Amino acid sequence: MQACRSGETRDTVRLLVGWEAKEFPLGDPNWTLLQLLREDFGLTGTKEGCAEGDCGACTVLVGRLVGGRLAYRAVNACILFTGALDGCQVLTVEHIALDGLHPAQEAMAAEGGSQCGFCTPGFVMSLVGMHVNGAGGDGGAERGAIDAVLAGNLCRCTGYGPIIAAARRVATAPVSDAWTRATARAEETLREWAADPRPLFCQTLRGFFAAPRSRADLACLMAAHPEATLVAGATDVGLWVTKQGKRLDKQIYLGAVGDLHNIRQTDDAIEIGAAVTYAEAETALLKAIPALAPTFRRIGSTQVRNSGTIGGNIANASPIGDTPPPLIALGATLVLESADGMRELPLERYFLDYGRQDRKPGEFVAAVRVPTPVPDSFRCYKVSKRFEQDITAVLGAFVVLVSDGTVVSARLAFGGMAGTPMRARRAEAALADQPWTMETVSAAMDALGDDFTPMTDMRASADYRLMVARNLLERYFHDLAGGLASLADGAIAEALCDV
Ligand code: FAD
Ligand code: FES
Ligand code: FES
Repeated sequence: MQACRSGETRDTVRLLVGWEAKEFPLGDPNWTLLQLLREDFGLTGTKEGCAEGDCGACTVLVGRLVGGRLAYRAVNACILFTGALDGCQVLTVEHIALDGLHPAQEAMAAEGGSQCGFCTPGFVMSLVGMHVNGAGGDGGAERGAIDAVLAGNLCRCTGYGPIIAAARRVATAPVSDAWTRATARAEETLREWAADPRPLFCQTLRGFFAAPRSRADLACLMAAHPEATLVAGATDVGLWVTKQGKRLDKQIYLGAVGDLHNIRQTDDAIEIGAAVTYAEAETALLKAIPALAPTFRRIGSTQVRNSGTIGGNIANASPIGDTPPPLIALGATLVLESADGMRELPLERYFLDYGRQDRKPGEFVAAVRVPTPVPDSFRCYKVSKRFEQDITAVLGAFVVLVSDGTVVSARLAFGGMAGTPMRARRAEAALADQPWTMETVSAAMDALGDDFTPMTDMRASADYRLMVARNLLERYFHDLAGGLASLADGAIAEALCDV
């Protein structure tokens, strides 16, 4: 890696486009996968609708090796940068009819799931993703599972009924032998590529695209180029290019750093590496924190969760990011790393002010650690205008511990109420050492007005936000009514009390 690594680097991107291996130089780090497919390879089946990850017209499948096996995920090609696909396979609607139409294509035709057809390739690829990943099983997909698969695909003319009917058909269709054989060959190719130890470093006219493979190389690159843009899933960064017209000429991609994909459960914490996507984190994280499931399911769409990372959600420090408030409520810590070493700090201290974080030049987020076991009294509530695929107006995450009817610890964290994700310290103080009753909770609800002066924007007015925050606290009280006496745990209370 340039300026950091004595070993060789590779300056061409390798990609299986469909079932065919391609190797090419990267002229521009900002070149999206959608541009590559349509403009370089003439694969115009994949459409551009919104160019911001919302409509799903650009949905393709990306195959990567996970634990040595090929795994497919549906993603939005419009906001992914080409370099991030190095060593992967990309399947578009042009590649899936191997021995006749794919079951997803057949089902859409049979159910009349397409009118103008602009959205159809995207829907088909989402359904292929469901098919290869076995959603639904023999009994057919549950409606909730289908909604989750299709939430990131919008259709303006067909209506969703026929598309949902098509999804039910696809869920029970067998995987063909031709598909199994083709994917086995693709897996072989990706394995051969993975065995090449040279990390990707594409020097371009105005900068570079680097994909280091180790934390040491990443730290070294960042020290040498602190002005470079770190890119994880690009579900935020991609929009800077496609919607804000920025050029990110020096990009350091985190996804090739194997270590940053680790999820570790230790005796007292679950640690999630910064490059772990929501989809990759789901099983382990929701096992450790089941009460996070309703919120997790509502982060973006399947495509967004397949690319986006929790590390990116924290690092970008948006006041309306969905993961910081629950992680703060749970007493999580953040591991930051640079060429000078590592440090760990309580997550809430990372967010200094709107647009300002405690991250030094050359530092990157390496992992987030959540103390476990998580108290049963943890709850997280997201309020947004739409259920699916919508950014939060207000999010509240709460952990109250009660012993003998008295509150011994309260951590109330909110998103959408201030310039950063933030704890409601005055409301917490109103609960502390008080009987766990509606009267106490009412006092805490009133104190929220002292904690926060929320803003009015297109998502919600200030008054609405404050009212929602109050109501979420009341809802929490009612949700847990009667159950808290058994939830006190001295050790957890101590760990959570004064971070
Ligand atoms: P990237 O876009 O790659 O990076 C985001 C920022 O973090 C950049 O500044 C980048 O430089 C920095 N960064 C990334 N990783 C690191 C690291 N390890 N160390 C230091 N800096 C780093 N968010 C929600 O919270 N809830 C939603 O419901 C939601 N819905 C969305 C819907 C759509 C259609 C889209 C496009 C986005 C949505 N988002 C949502 C925003 C986004 O998906 C999340 O913030 C996501 O977690 C960002 O992760 P990423 O890996 O894509 O980050
Ligand atoms: Fe709309 Fe990509 S074009 S999600
Ligand atoms: Fe026209 Fe869906 S068929 S947008």
